[in-house]
Amino acid sequence: MLRGKDILSMVQFSKQELNLIMNTAASYERRVKNNDYIDDMDGQVVACLFFEPSTRTRLSFESAANRLDARVINVIGADSSSTAKGESLEDTIRVVDGYIDVIVIRHSIIGSAQIAADNAVHPVINAGDGSNQHPTQSLVDIYTIRKEKGTLNGHTVTFLGDLKYGRTVHSLGYFMTLYGNKMIFVSPKALCMPEELTADFRSRGADIEETENLEEALAKSDIVYVTRIQKERFADSEEYNRLKGSYIIDRNTIARAKKGITVLHPLPRVDEIATDVDDYEGAAYFRQANNGMYVRMALLSLVSGSV
Ligand code: NCD
Repeated sequence: MLRGKDILSMVQFSKQELNLIMNTAASYERRVKNNDYIDDMDGQVVACLFFEPSTRTRLSFESAANRLDARVINVIGADSSSTAKGESLEDTIRVVDGYIDVIVIRHSIIGSAQIAADNAVHPVINAGDGSNQHPTQSLVDIYTIRKEKGTLNGHTVTFLGDLKYGRTVHSLGYFMTLYGNKMIFVSPKALCMPEELTADFRSRGADIEETENLEEALAKSDIVYVTRIQKERFADSEEYNRLKGSYIIDRNTIARAKKGITVLHPLPRVDEIATDVDDYEGAAYFRQANNGMYVRMALLSLVSGSV
């Protein structure tokens, strides 16, 4: 179903494809935990082109490729590649495409993954294109919600923080529209969800509420998805300084929230979740990061046609 396909945006997925990815990831999780020998991508090469900073996404893709017995080549930072000499993204992709079987790309330009896909014969996976989309993070988020809550349906989810520049929430919003979840957007006014996205979610049937009142939102939420204020996307550092620390979740916030609330965060966190939340049983963000590897094993093997 996904063989040879690019993964560019959450908009593209049907429920059937999402189920396939979730089930394939669950099977890899079982096999890895069982110490099974897995060589589904034996003889293949994956390019991890990370022109923007990354810890989890790059390392979970690289470890996923390694665990599938593929080889990995990479670019880490625009300064270490011919981008620094003025080479266009189009040319870089045309060249790399001749070396590999799958391309994973993170780049600061909105639409960069699409440009890569237009210039590559092999499948391209978007690991974050500027403030636009981060579909593989959303697949990790969904996998985590299914594990933590037992179902993907019927949750009330508060999205908190930088909804303007946060690409993870842009992608995750599309998923929510598929499964009848209610979304509550909580952010400072200057960082609210872009209007065209909210309109698009609504046109797909989403039930959305927008507020600046975190306490009221959390009192009725099953899940809170916290995001960092995206410092690197601000043209004006004064504006960043004014907005940072706008909303902070700590144990007191959790005590007043709906019982059993699950706390997700794509990480890295700066100060938006106090460390005293870490030992709350519903704090799932580190489990979420661990799930990244299994979901990315599923994606690599599915698009390369290895399973
Ligand atoms: C996110 C990203 O890069 O968009 N991180 C990640 O991939 N886990 C979130 C962020 O940087 O705030």
